[in-house]
Amino acid sequence: MVDLSVKIGDITLQNPIQPASGAFSWEYNDVIDLNRLGALVAKTICREPRLGNPTPRMAETEAGIIQSIGLPGKGIEYFVDHIVPEYAKFKPPLVVSVNSETIEDFAALAEELSVPDVDVIEANISCPTRNQTGGNFAMHEDYTRDCITAIRAKTKKPLWVKLSPNAGDIVSIARAAEAAGADCLVIANTFLSLKIRTDNFRPALGNKFGGLVSPALKPIVLRMVYQVAKQVKIPIIGVGGVTKAEDVVEYMLAGASAVGIGYAGFRNPTALVQIIDDLEAWCDERGIKKVTELIGAVKDADMESDPLVAASVGV
Ligand SMILES: Cc1cc2nc3c(=O)[nH]c(=O)nc-3n(C[C@H](O)[C@H](O)[C@H](O)COP(=O)(O)O)c2cc1C
Repeated sequence: MVDLSVKIGDITLQNPIQPASGAFSWEYNDVIDLNRLGALVAKTICREPRLGNPTPRMAETEAGIIQSIGLPGKGIEYFVDHIVPEYAKFKPPLVVSVNSETIEDFAALAEELSVPDVDVIEANISCPTRNQTGGNFAMHEDYTRDCITAIRAKTKKPLWVKLSPNAGDIVSIARAAEAAGADCLVIANTFLSLKIRTDNFRPALGNKFGGLVSPALKPIVLRMVYQVAKQVKIPIIGVGGVTKAEDVVEYMLAGASAVGIGYAGFRNPTALVQIIDDLEAWCDERGIKKVTELIGAVKDADMESDPLVAASVGV
């Protein structure tokens, strides 16, 4: 049987499947066995309690949903005292996602979250509806570098950095994050988008803009993972449009070491466990002994001389 385990820096995941931040909570244990997952990823936490954005916070489109939830939560104190212990009841490593509108507070939060039951800090520097100096630092190389440098100085925990697909040149941002001390890149957050209602001419979301999540985005994020993997040495977690085991394989062939899954879990809460089982079967049928054999194994060496050089480096 295939060995599904993967390493993300010093952290070993029993398989490359984990939930995406914000699309999951420990309460899923009522439906699936959380001990089967590669990691547990908590919803992004901020310092103060937040109600979140005005409603409606989600709207359907022809190709997925746009959403602007606004990071509701009970604040860091409640999170450390009550939510971390809920996750700590399970075996997979706990990844805690964090966001702040200032670099100083971001770093301070990372330090305060560096408690024993937390295994990884995921810096969500890519909130799509914020600006690049106020929480969406991943839109700009310099802000990314400054933010990750500050966080790195405050925590010894493994530091994963979630990038934005809305940045023009995600490769440069990825390199800035790596140079500043990131241990892993999570690619990517949601695509900034807009829906307008034709019955009342108003934006469909209370916050006007939202992030699009859809299986249709997988080829775009896959392209980003591929491009970034060629330019950085640290591991990558691909997030965007994974709905089946073959999508995991595709991300790994492009260079990802693991994937995160959001949307598919909304459609079917048992999807993550099903995908783990299907990935195991997919590898076994092909005699693949270790899933890590897939990482970066895309066969395109004969295509490197593609004259469209611009398409194979950053945009
Ligand atoms: C309802 C909802 C809430 C989300 N909240 C967060 C969040 O708190 N932090 C974060 O980094 N990403 C958040 N995301 C983005 C997801 O983590 C993920 O990047 C995105 O959904 C793309 O993956 P998918 O195509 O598998 O859904 C959220 C997505 C959805 C749909």
